[in-house]
Amino acid sequence: MHWQVVLVGGLLCGASAGSAGEVLSLVPKPCRQERREGQFTVDSQAAIVAEAESFVPIGERLAGAIRRITGQSVAIRREAAGHGKPIRLARADGQGRLGDEGYEIAVDPDGVRLAAASPAGMFYAAVTFAQLLDAAAPAASARSVSVPCLRIEDRPRFAWRGMHLDVARHFFDKAFVKRYIDHLAAYKFNVFHLYLTDDQGWRIEIKRYPRLTEIGAWRSGTRKHYFDGRGDATRYGGFFTQHDLREIVAYARERFITVVPGISMPGHSQAALAAYPELSSTGGPFEVWTDWGISKEVMDPGKEEVFRFVEGVLTEVIDVFPSRYIHTGGDEVPRDRWKASPFAQARMRQEGLKNEDELQSYFTRRVERFLNAKGRWLIGWDEILEGGLAPNAVVMSWRGTQGGIAAAKAGHRVVMTPHEQTYFNYMQHKAKRGPGHPGYLPLEAVYAFDPLRGLSPEESKHVLGGQACLWTEYVPTPADVEYLLFPRLLAMAEVLWSPAESRDAKDFLARLPAQLEGLKRAGIRYGEVESP
Ligand code: ACM
Repeated sequence: MHWQVVLVGGLLCGASAGSAGEVLSLVPKPCRQERREGQFTVDSQAAIVAEAESFVPIGERLAGAIRRITGQSVAIRREAAGHGKPIRLARADGQGRLGDEGYEIAVDPDGVRLAAASPAGMFYAAVTFAQLLDAAAPAASARSVSVPCLRIEDRPRFAWRGMHLDVARHFFDKAFVKRYIDHLAAYKFNVFHLYLTDDQGWRIEIKRYPRLTEIGAWRSGTRKHYFDGRGDATRYGGFFTQHDLREIVAYARERFITVVPGISMPGHSQAALAAYPELSSTGGPFEVWTDWGISKEVMDPGKEEVFRFVEGVLTEVIDVFPSRYIHTGGDEVPRDRWKASPFAQARMRQEGLKNEDELQSYFTRRVERFLNAKGRWLIGWDEILEGGLAPNAVVMSWRGTQGGIAAAKAGHRVVMTPHEQTYFNYMQHKAKRGPGHPGYLPLEAVYAFDPLRGLSPEESKHVLGGQACLWTEYVPTPADVEYLLFPRLLAMAEVLWSPAESRDAKDFLARLPAQLEGLKRAGIRYGEVESP
């Protein structure tokens, strides 16, 4: 496919309030949409009417979007009476039809009706309406913007529409994390996997274990940069206080996004071991790692103090993050130290564990029991399948989809994030210009991803949804993150929200230019779209 041709051809779009039948530039594409004659103009006569108390904050957010896009300040009221041009936020009957997150929109010349059975659904209605306004903005006169008359009925395909950010390899501050959450909300993602700890940095304050951030949040240099392969010896680090994280959680919740914390164990934990070397097999000492890759230094499940530590950390994590799902990593755990450890080997004898895979499974089961007793679910990378899956564990399948498929067949819940289609740290250009890892993941490959491929309808019921990940070894700045995020985030949004039957790359590309214009207006740098 020649992307350029499609882009230049520009079938557009909702960008001007044109005639019935014209393509709307919405992303993700709604389940059903129908263009009508005419348009609704947002001007000084318009007012938002929140017909339920729980819709008022969404009305306020919509008023903010209208002000940003059109320059108009619109009032928010609880009653429509006396208003010529209401934008009604109405409670829909028919929760069954719209589900927990669905919504309807009716735009007519004399008024707009957004309807949902839940605040989440109303939020997505408002996001869609804001996109319609944003697409119309370039053609707008100074004080009014017109949206085409239409009908939309919409609900998501998947319950888990996830996006991840690694703040361990490089640290991104609270202001940027909020901006990132805004990006996710704009495309109807509802899970933010905030990856907080790895070998190269521990980024969450734990009051019981202060050295985790006093020592573990700081490394003495960074071995390798993407742009020249060389490193530096500059002290690097940072962390979030629990206060910061509560603020991030609240910010996300207002946008109907759950923050799932990621705490790596028993591997990818050298920063923790630098702070508390007694958790390792050898006792250390260790430095917070300055290199990338897979460290051999891991927690030793032969030691009871490791479980005391993990439970202490998770107790505070649970207190900060209300998410039902707590991600405890489990990937890439080398067995070298356990093989040589008297503690690990003694544990294996006592528990009748045949090998180190079963030792990791023992570790995961114990952590899961702890989380389940607190009303939380353990989610981990697909390596947690090795040695036997903990009974209630959720599998996040990253080494392709095979692990997820095996887990779904065994009746476990699954989130699909196969690296070859969802790792946004891979570059999106053949020329492999940085930032990013030296892999290649063009927009088209993301758009072609289907979390249910290879699964029967019965097995598919166990797939909660999918996620894209953004690992930051070679992604040092916020601008680099956004460059890798966009426009692939839009493709992933459509994968996770829109019906499988409506997937059509050509149609997506026809809607893309108006979206890219919006990103440009917002000052967001994005990767150029190229033909793979
Ligand atoms: C992973 O990318 N190691 C989960």
